[in-house]
Amino acid sequence: MLPHVSVSPSLATRVRGFGPSVFAEYTALADRHGAVNLGQGFPDFPAPDFIKAAAQSAIAADHNQYTRYGGHLALVEALAAQAEVDLGRPVDPLHEVQIMAGATAALFAACQALVEPGDEVILFEPFFDVYPADVTMAGGVPVFVPLYPQADGRWRYDPDELRRAFGPRTKLLLLNTPHNPTGKVYDETELAEIAALCQEHDVIVVSDEVYERMLFVHDRLPRIATLPGMWERTLSIGSAGKTFSVTGWKIGWAIGPAPLVAALRAVQQWLTFSVATPFQVAVAEAVRAAPALGYYEEMAQMYRDKRDRLAAILTEARLRPFLPEATYFIMADTSAFGFPDDDSFCRWLTTEIGVAAIPPGSFYSPPHKHLARHLARFCFCKKDETLQAVAERLRALA
Ligand SMILES: Cc1ncc(COP(=O)(O)O)c(C=O)c1O
Repeated sequence: MLPHVSVSPSLATRVRGFGPSVFAEYTALADRHGAVNLGQGFPDFPAPDFIKAAAQSAIAADHNQYTRYGGHLALVEALAAQAEVDLGRPVDPLHEVQIMAGATAALFAACQALVEPGDEVILFEPFFDVYPADVTMAGGVPVFVPLYPQADGRWRYDPDELRRAFGPRTKLLLLNTPHNPTGKVYDETELAEIAALCQEHDVIVVSDEVYERMLFVHDRLPRIATLPGMWERTLSIGSAGKTFSVTGWKIGWAIGPAPLVAALRAVQQWLTFSVATPFQVAVAEAVRAAPALGYYEEMAQMYRDKRDRLAAILTEARLRPFLPEATYFIMADTSAFGFPDDDSFCRWLTTEIGVAAIPPGSFYSPPHKHLARHLARFCFCKKDETLQAVAERLRALA
């Protein structure tokens, strides 16, 4: 028998301190207690038939080998054509589109490609939890600007706090619109204000728009890259996982001016080189087919109905929802229950009531965690039966 050797690796500083995410923790807790899981943001219903059939055909047609590292030609062409409509400008599929292993990889690569050690990166909070990790792993320093819920249910930043966040070391601003977890869509005035500051301080914008097609109030997403002088300094990020309910495929992209896309591509070359070819071919077909099928409108309507259903369930359970303008998340005010913080409330809800929600404190920097004290994030990209089960369990709180 070989002797047991215990290895205690000395982790590199850049990864030390990153434990399991709140999603892993709450999924495990939900599983242990048989809770209905409204934690992590992925659909529990099947992906649309047309995209599944496209993937099966792509594999059968032997699109199974590496493809160009900028992205499969069919996909970059389909995305460039779609971006021309969304951005109102020509987009070069070969030099202005980069396919990555999900939006997650695009965000990571953008930080690796653009942030020098000591550079500052502005993040709005609550943030998608990968942002600070991406910034710190690149040696950057996150600078946080909170969003505050208003009486009208919208979330806004304080313009003075935003202005103060810019300084001589500011390199990047990471924008997320529509915003996870609040469902906020940044309006034209806010985008113009952010754009003016970025131009004044020569800052690049990474605009994470993965929920771009789940709009409940707007016909079109206002996009910062369309503002004067902003295309040149913006990378817009999208994800097939969100748009086509195939989060496991991990097909994401970045669209922007050739020099910024070339910087991302320099990382991609050494990261995964290329990304799952048959899924790229399938997403290309889905992107081309979606408008004629009315897919985006149908999906937005489906999520609008689910949002309204979950909002009604939460209201009945005395969990006051902030109605989102977009995305598939609802933040709710839990103060009626008197728990000292978001984690103790969400733990109780998961283990005692049988519904898992995410405590949003992990989407805030330590000095601002108190802003999440009476909040919980619920995800509604779930089957009607799942939402019905939630309604039955939350009835105990009414
Ligand atoms: C704001 C935001 N950006 C990016 C992602 C990840 O996208 P992908 O699955 O394409 O990596 C998510 C997933 O939850 C998200 O909420």
